Amino acid sequence: MQADPFTGRPTRVRGSRLPGADEQTALQHDHERGLETLARLRAAAEGVGFGTDPDDDLVLSAEDGLSLLAGADALWSELDAALGAFRAWVPLVSLGQFGFPEDAEDPFGEGSTRLRRIGSGVEASAFQAEDGSIYKFFLPREGGRIGGSFTFVRDGHEVAFRAEASLGSYRALFEKLHLILSLGGMPTEVVGLTPEGVLVVKQTAGERLPENLDTSALLPAGLIPIPSRFLRAQRDHPRLWFQGGAPWLVADLHAKNLVRAADGSLRVIDLLAAPMPRRQFAGEPLLASWLDRVARDPQAGLLEAVPDDEL
Ligand SMILES: Nc1ncnc2c1ncn2[C@@H]1O[C@H](COP(=O)(O)OP(=O)(O)O)[C@@H](O)[C@H]1O
Ligand SMILES: [Mg+2]
Repeated sequence: MQADPFTGRPTRVRGSRLPGADEQTALQHDHERGLETLARLRAAAEGVGFGTDPDDDLVLSAEDGLSLLAGADALWSELDAALGAFRAWVPLVSLGQFGFPEDAEDPFGEGSTRLRRIGSGVEASAFQAEDGSIYKFFLPREGGRIGGSFTFVRDGHEVAFRAEASLGSYRALFEKLHLILSLGGMPTEVVGLTPEGVLVVKQTAGERLPENLDTSALLPAGLIPIPSRFLRAQRDHPRLWFQGGAPWLVADLHAKNLVRAADGSLRVIDLLAAPMPRRQFAGEPLLASWLDRVARDPQAGLLEAVPDDEL
């Protein structure tokens, strides 16, 4: 594998070249193993009474702070091992490594000596390296939050629930990157986390689409439209997607969050998503049973099929 020019770590992403199918599968596999290390880390932290919501302190924990305690008992030693496994996936890196001034109040505003700014949205600032690769810097927000997600609010008669955009967590951000991979989106890799809490992500570069292009007919295959009587979302093109068997709301797939890849395909680079809160939906039997049925059959309609003689 090639080495990343900024961190020296192995990387599968370079410029606009699409990694081969095997490499893309490996990327997704790496990401799944990585998410498992995060789940293990959360469980280990809860085991010693360490808070995991918000999860900024958890993902930013330093290994050397723990190794002293690791000898104390099995729970601390598991936490130390779990943090080591997580750090192998998400190493600590510095903004200086990417050419940003380290002690500036607004390092991304000042710019980098090694990266060229190409865009910035609500969640991240995107830059391009000399080799063409895209690097995104997700900024931590207030209250230990980062990235975006949805909260679900019960509505009324015509619409069961509204999905309102909200700030996310580190875990939600890692899950969003996983969703991008699952949807056949642009190859995306976790690069590292800075001590300030900035998550650095690397992605294959694509060509932008015209900003006002209507993407509703161009979305990745397998996304299921959601009847608006069940759910309205504060973002474009809300869709249902099953990730590992669990229902997710995936949205925000407008023209600025899709690009054309080197092979001509349209690929997702960014989205807004949240797991569907099944427990919250229990009070809406029609919605809950629709979710159950589309899990088995994505073509399932609004209402349960009723035999003719019962109509
Ligand atoms: N892989 C990429 N190829 C080309 N342009 C990109 C890529 N990733 C991001 N960009 C540009 O940067 C902008 C912001 O990146 P994005 O990942 O959408 O972050 P945000 O969450 O802040 O919206 C995009 O709208 C796009 O113009
Ligand atoms: Mg975006």
